[in-house]
This record gives sequence, structure tokens and C-alpha cells, in this order.
Amino acid sequence: MNILENVSLKSYNTFGIEVKARYFVECWHVHQICDAVHWQKTNNLPLLILGGGSNVLFTQDFEGLVLKISLLGKEIIREDDENVWLKVQAGENWNTLVEYCVARNWGGIENLTLIPGTVGAAPMQNIGAYGVELQEVFEYLEAFDVASGTIYRFNKKDCKFGYRESIFKNELKNRFIILTVVLKLSKKPTLNFSYADVEKFLKERHIEPSVQSISEAVRQIRIEKLPNPAEIGNAGSFFKNPYISKKHYEYLKQNYPNLPAYPLNENTYKVPAAWLIEQAGWKGYREGNAGVHHRQALVLINTGNAQGKEIWQLAQKIKKSVEEQFGIVLQTEVNVY
Ligand code: EPU
Repeated sequence: MNILENVSLKSYNTFGIEVKARYFVECWHVHQICDAVHWQKTNNLPLLILGGGSNVLFTQDFEGLVLKISLLGKEIIREDDENVWLKVQAGENWNTLVEYCVARNWGGIENLTLIPGTVGAAPMQNIGAYGVELQEVFEYLEAFDVASGTIYRFNKKDCKFGYRESIFKNELKNRFIILTVVLKLSKKPTLNFSYADVEKFLKERHIEPSVQSISEAVRQIRIEKLPNPAEIGNAGSFFKNPYISKKHYEYLKQNYPNLPAYPLNENTYKVPAAWLIEQAGWKGYREGNAGVHHRQALVLINTGNAQGKEIWQLAQKIKKSVEEQFGIVLQTEVNVY
């Protein structure tokens, strides 16, 4: 086990925030994870599990052990005429996995093209985009219990998936380290191109929907709208899209006739946080080294050497102004340390 001291986390978080981990270890094998957790407990230190670092905002140095998960590999564990069950190690890059499946015409995750991060992080927040969520292809995962050192299997029901939610972000926060994820992919996929942007992309170009063409459409839409973390530090959507009551929606609609909203049930509407933030005047805003992206108001950016605190302070101002204007309290999607 190679535990390093005072390691910069700048290249381990897509926001590109310069903070230090007091201790840092990268694990390629499960036995290294066992050893690292044992060491962290013996030394009574806080533990932080890191995948691709694409959904975190560091606001200060971490005075504990950062454990970077780099378990690699994937294998078909079952196959029939209709489906493939693929077991993937947690450290694999999510988008590389998507490309691998798309190239084989295995459907199910093509709408999740170009989402940054690792496979192990995907179930944590039930990643989703363009009308599809991870839970739709999820079979089970295996995770290491930090308290007991035992490896447990979690089926879909156990994970309590919700909109950008799972049990691992809530009741079991910091309790388990995800080691492998099993996905059920389809050889005869039901394609989902209902998301307006995807449908428009295909129609305009007279392209037939397929696993490949949807993946390509999503890739181009994302490149067009979202900043590339390799060029501009960011962690995707900073806030979740809020749910509001029908009564609240109808009240707002009187003052804001253009308010976009998607009914979820009789009583609840989902409203795009990006729209609220843009209406509140923040789109393209800059403050020091923190900013709001000029094409996607839900994405906060590091315009160059920002401190995590600057981004966090800007987020708080945005949150306050959206609450004052619309009576809606935005919830952070990104994990803040
Ligand atoms: N909009 C604005 N201003 C903007 C951007 C968007 O008013 O600057 C409005 C438009 O009305 C647009 C609506 O917001 O129709 C929705 O925008 P978009 O389709 O870009 O999606 P989003 O709600 O902003 C969500 C996810 C993204 C995911 C996209 C596509 C969340 C928190 N975010 O964003 O996920 O890629 O849908 O499915 O649910 C992420 O989680 O990090 C992420 C990028």
C-alpha cells in the first residue's frame, strides 16, 4: 500500500480546485481497499472515496485519507438472445463503457453518452440524461462495508434509486465502497429519443434512431451546450431540478407565463433550475474566478484558479435570489466537502 502525504487534488476533481489531501491512496485491487480502510480506522481519520471527481466541490483541504478507486475490468457474466449482463469494475470510465456497448449495439446506456465520471459513481446518484436513468439498466452492485470489511450485494430495490438519489447518498452515506456494477443491456433495445433535443437533432438530419445515432446525437448536444471539464472546470449541473406543488406552479405561471414545467403526477411539477437561474439574471455571470456558464445556467464554472469557497459563495447567492424571486429552494446536486 502506497499512502502518499499532502497530495494536490487539483487533477482529481473536474472543477479543478486546488486543495490538498492529508493522505491519499489509489487502489487498483480490492485487497488494497481493505488495507487502506484498515489503516484509516487504525489512525482514526476521516475517509473520502473518490471516483472520477466529476461531482464534487472541494472547499477546503481534506484532513483525512482520500481513497481513489481505480479497479478496472469488465466481463460478460450472462448472455442470451435478448440481453447481455455485464459486470464492470468501479474504476472504469463511464463514457468508455458507453462507447464499448454502443460499438456492440447493446442498448440501454446510449442516452448516457459523455457523462463524466466512473462506473462506481454512477449508482451513487443514479446518473441520468436525455430521458434515461441508470436504474433502468441496473441489475445489482457489490460494495465493501467500511465498518465490517464484508462485501455485500445490493439489488435494484436495495439501492432506493430516485432522481439523482440512492441509498448511498443518504442512509448509507460513507458506509459502502462500490466495487462492481452489473448492467443488463439489450440486444433488441427499445430506443428512447423522446427528449426534445434528441428528437430534433435526428429529425433535422433525417437520421433513423439507433443505438449509435442516439449516442452520437447526445454527444453532439452535450458538446454544444456543456463546457468540457478538461477546458473549463465544472461538475455538470450544480443544482437539482426542483419539484413544486401544482398550486405553486399555477401561482408562478400567472407571473411567468413561459415557465417550463413537467407534470410528474397530479400534484407535482418538475421545473428546470436552469430556467429559474437564467430568469434571476445569472446566466454568463462572473465573480472573481467563479461563474455561471453562458450556454447552460445550471453549470457553475471555475474560470481559472478559483477556490472552492468562491464557487460555493456564488452558489449560495444564486440559491438565495431564486428563493426570493420564485419561492423555490434549490438543492445542491454536487457533493460539497
Ligand atoms: N434552460 C434555460 N436556460 C439554460 C438552460 C436550460 O432556461 O441556460 C431551460 C430550458 O427550458 C430547457 C430546460 O431548462 O428546456 C432543460 O434544460 P436541459 O435540457 O439542458 O437540461 P437540465 O434540466 O438543465 C438535466 C440534467 C443534466 C442532463 C440534462 C439532459 C439535472 C440536475 N440535470 O439538465 O444532467 O444532462 O437534463 O437530460 O437533472 C448533471 O446531472 O450533471 C447533468 C448535466
